[in-house]
Amino acid sequence: MKKKIETLKQRREQALLGGGKARIEAQHKKGKLTARERLHFLLDEGSFQEIGMLVAHRSTDFGMEKEHYPGDGVITGYGTIGGRTVYVFSQDFTVFGGSLSETHAEKICKLMDMAMKNGAPVIGLNDSGGARIQEGVVSLGGYADIFFRNTMASGVIPQLSAIMGPCAGGAVYSPAITDFILMVEHTSYMFVTGPNVVKTVTHEVVTSEELGGANTHATKSGVTHFACANEIDAIQHLKKLLSYIPQNCEERAPSVPYEAGNELRPKLDTFMPENASQPYDIREIINQVIDADSFLEVHKDFAENIVVGFARLAGRSIGVVANQPAFLAGVLDIHSSTKGARFVRFCDCFNIPLLVFEDVPGFLPGTDQEWNAIITNGAKLLYAFCEATVPRITVITRKAYGGAYDVMNSKHIGADMNFAWPTAEIAVMGAKGAAEIIFKREINAAEDKEAKWLEMEKIYSDKFANPYRAAERGFIDEVIEPAETRQKLIFAFKMLENKVVNLPRKKHGNIPL
Ligand code: HXC
Repeated sequence: MKKKIETLKQRREQALLGGGKARIEAQHKKGKLTARERLHFLLDEGSFQEIGMLVAHRSTDFGMEKEHYPGDGVITGYGTIGGRTVYVFSQDFTVFGGSLSETHAEKICKLMDMAMKNGAPVIGLNDSGGARIQEGVVSLGGYADIFFRNTMASGVIPQLSAIMGPCAGGAVYSPAITDFILMVEHTSYMFVTGPNVVKTVTHEVVTSEELGGANTHATKSGVTHFACANEIDAIQHLKKLLSYIPQNCEERAPSVPYEAGNELRPKLDTFMPENASQPYDIREIINQVIDADSFLEVHKDFAENIVVGFARLAGRSIGVVANQPAFLAGVLDIHSSTKGARFVRFCDCFNIPLLVFEDVPGFLPGTDQEWNAIITNGAKLLYAFCEATVPRITVITRKAYGGAYDVMNSKHIGADMNFAWPTAEIAVMGAKGAAEIIFKREINAAEDKEAKWLEMEKIYSDKFANPYRAAERGFIDEVIEPAETRQKLIFAFKMLENKVVNLPRKKHGNIPL
């Protein structure tokens, strides 16, 4: 008996060493943690339970039968974060560069199947050279098995991907299907084809960092939702993110204790600039309204004309979507529409109520936008709001112009409560442009055209640059003093707590892609 237990211990010890001491040192030298160290920092102390520690690959080509590392390049198992169960896989770069073999893929699939049966999130810590080159098509098949499960799990359990090293070729598509991607600055990258292939095909000379580093994907492509300063920062972000979201689509996100106090925010009564064209940072309003220090911004540096993120209101998790007047006047364009749509759909999948702040001059004009399909992309945001069945509240702080009025969670497309500040301007377009069109004849006939234009602009503005026309129609449920915003929202979200909406029976909708 003793000898047999000794054998088990030895096998375990060997597995704990991954690809061996030298490779672990090389990993550390690159400024990276090992797969096991990452799990240690991610999970509650002592909670990790490994599954498949002794799994071995079946490959016999290219001398592979002689090269075996227990676990085969990925550590899989379950544990808890803040006491809540999560399923995790952590790719071990020290074993064949974390490359994905048939058995490596099987381990991940087994874990995902368990997560689906038991309704808990899956977190992937990716650090992999892609398909195990020695295995050929069985490795590709393994990737496809994972992609299929990612898709089946989408909207059922949250799936989070942290990119801790290289992620190339097909390896990028599993993270891409998951709900959130986090990348580590300077040590992780993602691309479909690397710099060498790019050089051969397009003659572009580009570094890995420029092509697919964390900052590239956080600012240019929007592929990553978070660019983290280092691995520990990425792990902290994972934990924080999880704290806002439920275990699965049947549950609600956990609340934090909250003691009611004075909910008035008098600062907001003097916040809005006198001049309607003057920018302001919408984050200042968000932070006044939500629980202190509770905002976790998503996609912070991408499409900055819309701000999205998680927050808490009276201790409950909400998703915030807000036009950002401080960037491109908060206009809706292709990137901001897709960014907003993706976030709205995530919140809707996982029962997270939506709070929208609206100050939008309309959609961005121009050939670039039209030729790159602002029509289709803008429709994504519209579609996402229309189909969302979670509690939905809008606060119009200033401009709500044109189609953007409809799109930004208007009453007409299913919002539950629509508030407006007295500074709201709800109209087809800004008064200047409107006057130019509808009073063209009067302006042209006038001796002082400029003065006439101003006069007509004022007439239009007095009539429409306010929230009262919309309130008279019931499109706005209440015009509120800015200072009351937080209080009104707490009441309204509480009132909507048990909202149930059944969509028409269908296989699935056909969102414009
Ligand atoms: C097998 C691999 C491997 C792979 C790396 N290794 N990638 N083994 N299959 N895909 C091994 C190396 O042989 C080496 O083994 C160890 O991992 C570390 O690799 P290094 O090259 O020394 O490390 P580094 O210099 O940091 O470079 C990392 C790297 C590079 C950039 C990831 O290894 C690389 O370019 N690998 C190949 C990437 C690739 O083309 N993958 C296939 C993508 S196509 P030793 O024994 O020395 O430690 C794909 C298709 C999927 O994934 C399609 C699905 C739809």
